Order: sequence, then C-alpha cells, then structure tokens
Amino acid sequence: MQGIFKAFRLHSIDGVVTRKIESIQLDSLSPGNVIIKVAFSSINYKDALASKGLNNVVREWPRISGIDLTGIVVESHDLRFSPGDEVLVNGCGIGVDHDGGHAEYARVNADWVMKLPSGLTLLDAATIGVAGYTAGLSLDLMELNGLNTQGGPILVTGATGGVATIAIDMLSQRGYQVTAMSGKPNETAYLKNLGASEVIGRISPESSFKPLEKAQWAGAIDSVGGYTLSWLTRVMQTSGIIAAFGNAGGAELDTTVVPFILRGIRLIGINANSPMNIREKIWKKIANEYRPTHLKEIASIIGIEKLAHHLDLTLAGKSKGRIVIDMTK
Ligand SMILES: NC(=O)c1ccc[n+]([C@@H]2O[C@H](COP(=O)([O-])OP(=O)(O)OC[C@H]3O[C@@H](n4cnc5c(N)ncnc54)[C@H](OP(=O)(O)O)[C@@H]3O)[C@@H](O)[C@H]2O)c1
Repeated sequence: MQGIFKAFRLHSIDGVVTRKIESIQLDSLSPGNVIIKVAFSSINYKDALASKGLNNVVREWPRISGIDLTGIVVESHDLRFSPGDEVLVNGCGIGVDHDGGHAEYARVNADWVMKLPSGLTLLDAATIGVAGYTAGLSLDLMELNGLNTQGGPILVTGATGGVATIAIDMLSQRGYQVTAMSGKPNETAYLKNLGASEVIGRISPESSFKPLEKAQWAGAIDSVGGYTLSWLTRVMQTSGIIAAFGNAGGAELDTTVVPFILRGIRLIGINANSPMNIREKIWKKIANEYRPTHLKEIASIIGIEKLAHHLDLTLAGKSKGRIVIDMTK
C-alpha cells in the first residue's frame, strides 16, 4: 500500500499536547503485520484524555488516537487474515501505545485483529466499539454472578455516555427494568427511547455517609466511579451486583465492608482489554442475544474534521451516545 492519507495525530512539545489532521504515509505508522483500510472509528473517553495529554494514557509521541476501529484488510503478513476481510480492532493499546483508528489506514499486530462478527456491519461494530464491548462484558459477568431479569431494577450511571447508552439498550431488550442516572435532564426522552423505564438525576457528594441505605438496585453498571460508586455500594439489594469500569466522575472509592458482609453485595471490576477468546465470546453475544436495537439513535456519525470538537465535548461530559467517525469520507 503506497500513497498519502489523512490521520488525526497528537504531538507533545515541551509538555504541551496539540492535535491536527495531517497527510502522512504508511511508513510513519507504528509497525504491524496487518494493514487495514479504516472504515469507521469512534470516540471513547480514553481518546478524549489522550487528545489533551491527560492521565498519561499516551507516553510516546506523535500518536494517532482512536482506541477502536473497523475496516477492511488490504495487506496481511499473517495467515489468519487476507485482503478483503472485514475486521475490527478494540483496545490492545491502539490509540495510546500504538497508532490507532483516527486515520484512513491502520497498521496493527494480527493478534489484535478480530473478524467482524457475523450479522454486524462495519458501522454497527464501530457504533458498539470498545464502549459497547464494555457494556456486553459487564452484562456477561453480572449474569455469570447470578443477575437475572426477576431480581429487580438495574441502575446505569453516566447514562448518556457511550458505554451507558449501549448498556441501557442491551439490558432493556433483554428484559431488565432499567433506571438511568444522568446529569442531563433534557435527555430524559432520549434515554427512555433507548429503554430506560425511569431517569433520575446524579447524586451529590453530600447525599449520605451511612454504611447502609435503602436497598434499591439488583444491579448497577457504573461509568462514573468516585462518590457515585461509593453510594452504589450502600444502596444495592441483598446480593446486588455492581460492574465498575469507569472513573468519569472520580477514581476514589470510599466505602465500608458493611454492604459486603451484611448484604453480600458483589463489586465486579471490568477491564475491557480482554484476551482474544473472551473478546470472541462477548462479541458473539453482542451480535446475538445482547444485540442492541437502537444503534441508529445512539450513533452520531461525523467526519474527521469534527473530531477535535467532539473530543472536547466528551472530555467536558457534554457528549451523548456514541460518536462514530466515518473515515471513508
Ligand atoms: N475499564 C475499562 O476497560 C473501560 C472501558 C471503557 C470505558 N471505561 C471508562 O468508563 C467511563 C465511561 O466511558 P465512556 O466512553 O462511556 O465515556 P463518555 O461517553 O464520556 O460517558 C461518560 C458519562 O459519564 C457522565 N459524567 C461525565 N462526567 C461526570 C462527572 N464529573 N460526574 C458524574 N458523571 C459524569 C456523563 O453522563 P450523564 O451526563 O448522562 O450523567 C457522561 O456522558 C470512562 O471513565 C472510561 O474511561 C473503562
């Protein structure tokens, strides 16, 4: 593959991170044995952090952002893939340790590449992306720990975010009763349309310091962390299950052992950077029994020229649903 193509690249000069759309050649991409013509990428919260050089998520510069992508293989030096294969790459360091999906081409390690799950289009899989994978992995681990639709309501925090919107969609189509917690009261109709039966506002840091409060939720999918996660530990039903993967609101966790020993609550940590066998299992579920049914309403499709603006909105918590970048335009 030869020629010049567009890439959204981050630079750090004297500690100041800048980003711009550049024309580059394949030689300047991180090394790899599979070359993919990117069809779609997306914005995940980590991309927003990377784009401002925050939390040390990027340590080597310059770097093309984009922690997920879908596209078509154009060249492969690995027997598992051939030109024309429709594939996806989620995480595995792309967009942070290795050049990522915010470019017309990506060059990656074959071990990170997955064939597109049957029944999903390249656009579907990009709309789902790392965010939807995280929602699917959370649901799978919660169900393995006993969650079922008869147990009671499930709370999804950071509800208008990427992971949460797909989680609401997945949970509700699977028969769960979902309550959405959001800081955006004007998005109530949107969240109800995705399947939330109720929408509540964010809790405040002063809400309560009692070790246990009224037991409300059978499950919780938490994007927020911090005092929201602390509060969740105190309001779960007996044997309630929390999937904790996010820190959009803070990284601290201030709680006691009381909810664990008196209510038997379970706090499950979620790391979306799973081994390939787990990825294949979860993606198969996402394409079938967990399949989201509102992907069109969740996706906002933009061109690369609007990427910087939407990264800033995401960092400010002002984004909604999944921002998908169409790299073919
Ligand atoms: N562990 C993993 O492997 C993994 C994988 C994927 C994502 N994550 C993490 O999960 C979180 C969500 O990711 P995402 O891509 O869905 O992000 P996102 O699209 O930016 O959504 C985050 C949502 O959290 C809420 N929020 C933002 N700032 C907040 C604050 N200060 N206090 C309370 N709520 C706040 C907002 O929803 P409302 O306005 O509706 O409240 C926002 O839409 C991030 O922390 C991300 O890093 C972790």
